[in-house]
Amino acid sequence: MSKPTLYNKSCYGLEDIEDNSIDALVTDPPYGLGFQNHEWDKGHVPEKQIWEDSWRVLKPGGYGVVFSFPRLMHRVMIDIEDSGFILKDVLFWANLNGMPKTRNIALDIDKELGVESEIDGEYNYTQGYIKDGADSYKVKERKYRRKPASELGKKYAGSGTNLKPVYEPIILIQKPISESNIAKNVIKYGTGVLNIEDGRIPYSLQERGKKIGHNPHPIGRVPSHILRYEEMNDRYDKFFVIPKVRKQKDLFNYHPTIKPIELMSHLISLVSFKDQLVLDPFMGSGSTALAAIIKERNFIGYEKDKKYFDISQKRIDIELNQKLI
Ligand SMILES: C[S@@+](CC[C@H](N)C(=O)[O-])C[C@H]1O[C@@H](n2cnc3c(N)ncnc32)[C@H](O)[C@@H]1O
Repeated sequence: MSKPTLYNKSCYGLEDIEDNSIDALVTDPPYGLGFQNHEWDKGHVPEKQIWEDSWRVLKPGGYGVVFSFPRLMHRVMIDIEDSGFILKDVLFWANLNGMPKTRNIALDIDKELGVESEIDGEYNYTQGYIKDGADSYKVKERKYRRKPASELGKKYAGSGTNLKPVYEPIILIQKPISESNIAKNVIKYGTGVLNIEDGRIPYSLQERGKKIGHNPHPIGRVPSHILRYEEMNDRYDKFFVIPKVRKQKDLFNYHPTIKPIELMSHLISLVSFKDQLVLDPFMGSGSTALAAIIKERNFIGYEKDKKYFDISQKRIDIELNQKLI
């Protein structure tokens, strides 16, 4: 395994990469939601060009996983399909801890009708996250809690516009094979299949040592397309368990959308084999790169923002040093 190759520039064109040279694509592009008002996430999903570029550089039969968001994923999927990929599946990462974003429409109705809503207590309003490397900022103020006063406002009390987002879709894609069958494609390129064995889900502690099913596999279950957060404590441990990253103020990585290393490792395991080459065109703070090191894959990543690029490099250096110890 060689040291990851990182480019601090826009990925569009993937100009440093030769045709048919990448084994797997693992990427978490901007969702296009304008998350926390970050410029790079505003306005639109990634340009279709990056999927055409990815198609060019992936080997025939190569798999990819692309993160997206429920209300915009259809646009990403159409671009990916129109670029020549096969849409194989959609994995479902249930993390359960998104922030609900909705408005209190009942109070808006009062406002529209020119009725002043009633005060119904007070609360501390706190907003805070670490923004672009600056000190953590927090807005803390006392605010009035209000309830609707108009008749119509009361009727719609408690209504809203959005559900709490608790899962993120991950689109599983494949560049079509070029040979007459999959075995021939694997022989020629080493691509064309998922690495089910490496992605197996270990049996839970309670299950270990017991007979599971008719023909239990020594490592664990075949990976499913639900990847879930452990708070779904229903004793039905058939799915991979991955908590969402909780940002910690004292760590140097302040990227706002860090993906869990365990999740990225699982995905890399599924779509590639040891020593193969994985590409992430939207690297952010380098979580895919770290997972590639852990899973002993080679890696190429692009990140256009210097501050996130520097964080990636620092994280990779720490990971490589730890591996050497
Ligand atoms: C969702 S974040 C990736 C976060 C990453 N998974 C992590 O764990 O840190 C997407 C990243 O893509 C970067 N980006 C946006 N447009 C880009 C482009 N054209 N080329 C390279 N990077 C880009 C943004 O700066 C952002 O850091």
